[in-house]
Amino acid sequence: MRIDVLTLFPEMFESPLAHSIIKRAQDNNIIQIVLTNVRDFTTDSYKKVDDKPYGGGPGMVMMCQPIFDCAECVRKLSADKGRTILLTPQGQKFDQKKAVELSKEKRLILIAGRYEGFDERIRIGLDAEQISIGDYVLSGGELAAMVIIDAVVRLLAGTLGDETSALDESFSESIAGCLEYPQYTRPEVFRDMKVPDILLSGDHKKIAEWRQQQTIERTQKWRPDLLDK
Ligand code: 6GU
Repeated sequence: MRIDVLTLFPEMFESPLAHSIIKRAQDNNIIQIVLTNVRDFTTDSYKKVDDKPYGGGPGMVMMCQPIFDCAECVRKLSADKGRTILLTPQGQKFDQKKAVELSKEKRLILIAGRYEGFDERIRIGLDAEQISIGDYVLSGGELAAMVIIDAVVRLLAGTLGDETSALDESFSESIAGCLEYPQYTRPEVFRDMKVPDILLSGDHKKIAEWRQQQTIERTQKWRPDLLDK
Protein backbone atom coordinates (compact mmCIF):
# COMPACT_ATOMS: atom_id res chain seq x y z
CA MET A 1 0.00 0.00 0.00
CA ARG A 2 1.09 3.55 -0.72
CA ILE A 3 0.01 6.29 1.71
CA ASP A 4 0.52 9.91 0.71
CA VAL A 5 0.12 12.54 3.42
CA LEU A 6 -0.37 16.19 2.52
CA THR A 7 0.44 18.43 5.48
CA LEU A 8 1.93 21.75 6.55
CA PHE A 9 3.89 19.91 9.26
CA PRO A 10 5.66 16.86 7.81
CA GLU A 11 8.13 16.88 10.74
CA MET A 12 5.28 15.91 13.07
CA PHE A 13 5.22 12.47 11.40
CA GLU A 14 8.89 11.63 11.76
CA SER A 15 8.95 9.92 15.14
CA PRO A 16 5.60 8.07 14.97
CA LEU A 17 6.53 6.55 11.62
CA ALA A 18 10.06 5.61 12.66
CA HIS A 19 9.25 2.99 15.29
CA SER A 20 7.78 -0.43 15.86
CA ILE A 21 5.19 -1.85 13.47
CA ILE A 22 5.03 1.09 11.08
CA LYS A 23 8.79 1.20 10.75
CA ARG A 24 8.95 -2.54 10.10
CA ALA A 25 6.15 -2.32 7.53
CA GLN A 26 8.12 0.34 5.66
CA ASP A 27 11.40 -1.58 5.92
CA ASN A 28 9.66 -4.68 4.51
CA ASN A 29 8.03 -2.71 1.66
CA ILE A 30 4.53 -3.54 2.87
CA ILE A 31 3.80 0.17 2.93
CA GLN A 32 5.35 3.24 1.43
CA ILE A 33 4.54 6.51 3.21
CA VAL A 34 5.23 9.73 1.31
CA LEU A 35 4.96 13.10 3.07
CA THR A 36 4.40 16.22 0.99
CA ASN A 37 4.46 19.77 2.36
CA VAL A 38 1.49 21.75 1.07
CA ARG A 39 3.42 24.98 1.64
CA ASP A 40 5.83 23.99 -1.15
CA PHE A 41 2.93 24.56 -3.57
CA THR A 42 2.20 28.16 -2.66
CA THR A 43 2.68 30.72 -5.42
CA ASP A 44 3.09 33.97 -3.46
CA SER A 45 6.25 35.19 -1.74
CA TYR A 46 4.68 34.93 1.73
CA LYS A 47 3.95 31.21 1.18
CA LYS A 48 0.39 31.84 2.24
CA VAL A 49 -1.82 28.78 2.75
CA ASP A 50 -4.80 30.27 4.62
CA ASP A 51 -6.99 33.34 4.48
CA LYS A 52 -9.94 35.03 6.26
CA PRO A 53 -13.36 33.43 5.80
CA TYR A 54 -15.84 35.11 3.44
CA GLY A 55 -18.80 36.33 5.45
CA GLY A 56 -16.62 37.01 8.46
CA GLY A 57 -16.05 34.98 11.58
CA PRO A 58 -13.07 33.84 13.61
CA GLY A 59 -10.00 32.01 12.42
CA MET A 60 -8.49 31.25 9.07
CA VAL A 61 -9.48 28.89 6.29
CA MET A 62 -7.15 26.70 4.21
CA MET A 63 -7.07 28.14 0.68
CA CYS A 64 -7.88 26.14 -2.46
CA GLN A 65 -4.84 26.79 -4.64
CA PRO A 66 -1.99 25.24 -2.61
CA ILE A 67 -4.01 22.11 -1.75
CA PHE A 68 -5.37 21.61 -5.27
CA ASP A 69 -1.90 21.99 -6.81
CA CYS A 70 -0.35 19.74 -4.18
CA ALA A 71 -3.03 17.02 -4.50
CA GLU A 72 -2.91 17.07 -8.30
CA CYS A 73 0.87 16.75 -8.25
CA VAL A 74 0.81 13.93 -5.68
CA ARG A 75 -1.91 12.02 -7.56
CA LYS A 76 0.39 11.81 -10.58
CA LEU A 77 3.18 10.18 -8.55
CA SER A 78 1.53 6.77 -8.79
CA ALA A 79 -0.77 5.06 -11.29
CA ASP A 80 -3.30 4.13 -8.57
CA LYS A 81 -5.96 6.78 -8.10
CA GLY A 82 -6.55 5.68 -4.52
CA ARG A 83 -8.93 7.36 -2.10
CA THR A 84 -8.53 11.01 -1.18
CA ILE A 85 -9.46 11.67 2.44
CA LEU A 86 -9.74 15.02 4.23
CA LEU A 87 -9.08 14.84 7.97
CA THR A 88 -11.67 17.07 9.59
CA PRO A 89 -13.93 17.01 12.66
CA GLN A 90 -16.85 17.21 10.17
CA GLY A 91 -15.99 13.77 8.81
CA GLN A 92 -17.46 10.31 9.32
CA LYS A 93 -16.29 8.78 12.57
CA PHE A 94 -13.28 6.47 12.15
CA ASP A 95 -13.64 3.00 13.67
CA GLN A 96 -12.24 -0.51 13.26
CA LYS A 97 -14.67 -1.26 10.43
CA LYS A 98 -13.37 1.77 8.53
CA ALA A 99 -9.78 0.70 9.26
CA VAL A 100 -10.48 -2.73 7.74
CA GLU A 101 -12.12 -1.10 4.71
CA LEU A 102 -9.17 1.25 4.14
CA SER A 103 -6.64 -1.56 4.64
CA LYS A 104 -7.95 -3.16 1.41
CA GLU A 105 -6.99 -0.16 -0.73
CA LYS A 106 -3.79 0.05 -2.73
CA ARG A 107 -3.41 3.76 -2.10
CA LEU A 108 -4.62 6.40 0.36
CA ILE A 109 -4.12 10.15 0.04
CA LEU A 110 -4.62 11.79 3.44
CA ILE A 111 -4.96 15.57 3.64
CA ALA A 112 -4.38 17.11 7.07
CA GLY A 113 -5.89 20.52 7.62
CA ARG A 114 -4.96 23.22 10.09
CA TYR A 115 -6.70 26.41 11.10
CA GLU A 116 -10.49 26.53 11.18
CA GLY A 117 -11.03 24.24 8.23
CA PHE A 118 -10.85 23.81 4.46
CA ASP A 119 -12.43 25.96 1.78
CA GLU A 120 -15.49 23.88 0.86
CA ARG A 121 -14.35 23.69 -2.78
CA ILE A 122 -11.42 21.49 -1.74
CA ARG A 123 -13.76 18.67 -0.70
CA ILE A 124 -15.91 19.10 -3.80
CA GLY A 125 -13.16 19.67 -6.38
CA LEU A 126 -10.93 16.85 -5.18
CA ASP A 127 -13.92 14.52 -4.70
CA ALA A 128 -12.63 13.76 -1.21
CA GLU A 129 -14.16 11.73 1.59
CA GLN A 130 -14.01 13.23 5.10
CA ILE A 131 -12.94 11.36 8.22
CA SER A 132 -12.88 12.41 11.89
CA ILE A 133 -11.29 10.29 14.62
CA GLY A 134 -13.77 11.29 17.32
CA ASP A 135 -16.00 13.94 18.80
CA TYR A 136 -13.43 16.40 20.07
CA VAL A 137 -11.41 19.12 18.36
CA LEU A 138 -7.71 18.74 17.55
CA SER A 139 -5.57 21.63 16.36
CA GLY A 140 -5.01 19.88 13.08
CA GLY A 141 -5.50 16.69 11.10
CA GLU A 142 -1.92 15.46 11.57
CA LEU A 143 -2.54 13.39 14.71
CA ALA A 144 -5.71 12.01 13.14
CA ALA A 145 -3.73 10.96 10.04
CA MET A 146 -1.23 9.15 12.27
CA VAL A 147 -4.02 7.34 14.11
CA ILE A 148 -5.50 6.17 10.83
CA ILE A 149 -2.13 5.09 9.44
CA ASP A 150 -1.39 3.06 12.58
CA ALA A 151 -4.80 1.37 12.66
CA VAL A 152 -4.65 0.52 8.94
CA VAL A 153 -1.02 -0.59 8.68
CA ARG A 154 -1.23 -3.12 11.50
CA LEU A 155 -4.03 -4.89 9.59
CA LEU A 156 -1.88 -5.50 6.51
CA ALA A 157 -0.64 -9.05 6.03
CA GLY A 158 2.92 -9.54 7.20
CA THR A 159 2.92 -6.51 9.48
CA LEU A 160 2.44 -8.10 12.89
CA GLY A 161 4.75 -10.79 14.21
CA ASP A 162 1.87 -13.09 15.09
CA GLU A 163 -0.74 -13.14 12.31
CA THR A 164 -3.58 -14.02 14.66
CA SER A 165 -3.15 -11.18 17.13
CA ALA A 166 -4.82 -8.50 14.97
CA LEU A 167 -7.92 -10.69 14.74
CA ASP A 168 -8.17 -11.57 18.40
CA GLU A 169 -8.22 -8.05 19.82
CA SER A 170 -10.99 -5.83 21.09
CA PHE A 171 -13.20 -4.42 18.34
CA SER A 172 -12.06 -7.00 15.81
CA GLU A 173 -14.70 -9.19 14.25
CA SER A 174 -13.64 -12.43 15.92
CA ILE A 175 -15.17 -11.38 19.22
CA ALA A 176 -17.75 -9.14 17.64
CA GLY A 177 -16.80 -5.69 18.86
CA CYS A 178 -16.38 -6.53 22.55
CA LEU A 179 -13.54 -5.65 24.91
CA GLU A 180 -10.69 -8.09 25.41
CA TYR A 181 -10.53 -10.59 28.27
CA PRO A 182 -7.94 -9.90 31.01
CA GLN A 183 -4.38 -11.00 30.35
CA TYR A 184 -1.65 -12.02 32.78
CA THR A 185 2.02 -12.90 32.49
CA ARG A 186 4.69 -13.94 34.98
CA PRO A 187 4.98 -13.87 37.96
CA GLU A 188 2.05 -15.88 39.33
CA VAL A 189 1.82 -13.58 42.36
CA PHE A 190 2.65 -9.88 42.33
CA ARG A 191 2.07 -7.77 45.48
CA ASP A 192 -0.48 -10.30 46.77
CA MET A 193 -2.38 -10.26 43.48
CA LYS A 194 -2.65 -13.76 42.06
CA VAL A 195 -3.22 -14.92 38.49
CA PRO A 196 -6.65 -16.65 38.29
CA ASP A 197 -6.24 -20.42 38.93
CA ILE A 198 -8.10 -21.34 35.75
CA LEU A 199 -5.33 -19.85 33.58
CA LEU A 200 -2.81 -22.16 35.25
CA SER A 201 -5.05 -25.24 34.97
CA GLY A 202 -4.04 -26.25 31.46
CA ASP A 203 -7.72 -26.92 30.63
CA HIS A 204 -8.05 -25.12 27.29
CA LYS A 205 -11.79 -25.58 26.98
CA LYS A 206 -12.42 -24.11 30.45
CA ILE A 207 -9.99 -21.26 29.73
CA ALA A 208 -11.81 -20.37 26.52
CA GLU A 209 -15.17 -20.37 28.35
CA TRP A 210 -13.78 -18.22 31.16
CA ARG A 211 -12.36 -15.73 28.67
CA GLN A 212 -15.64 -15.46 26.81
CA GLN A 213 -17.48 -14.87 30.10
CA GLN A 214 -14.96 -12.19 31.08
CA THR A 215 -15.33 -10.53 27.69
CA ILE A 216 -19.08 -10.21 28.13
CA GLU A 217 -18.91 -9.05 31.76
CA ARG A 218 -16.27 -6.41 31.12
CA THR A 219 -18.04 -5.07 28.07
CA GLN A 220 -21.31 -4.87 30.01
CA LYS A 221 -19.56 -3.02 32.81
CA TRP A 222 -17.28 -0.63 30.93
CA ARG A 223 -18.68 -0.24 27.40
CA PRO A 224 -22.35 -1.26 27.43
CA ASP A 225 -22.80 0.85 24.27
CA LEU A 226 -20.82 -1.79 22.35
CA LEU A 227 -23.32 -4.53 23.22
CA ASP A 228 -26.20 -2.51 21.73
CA LYS A 229 -24.54 -2.56 18.30
CL1 6GU B 1 -9.58 14.55 11.59
N1 6GU B 1 -9.22 16.92 12.70
C1 6GU B 1 -9.35 17.80 13.71
N2 6GU B 1 -8.84 19.03 13.55
N3 6GU B 1 -9.95 17.51 14.86
C2 6GU B 1 -10.44 16.27 14.97
C3 6GU B 1 -10.34 15.31 13.98
C4 6GU B 1 -9.71 15.67 12.81
N4 6GU B 1 -10.92 14.18 14.40
C5 6GU B 1 -11.35 14.45 15.63
N5 6GU B 1 -11.08 15.70 15.98
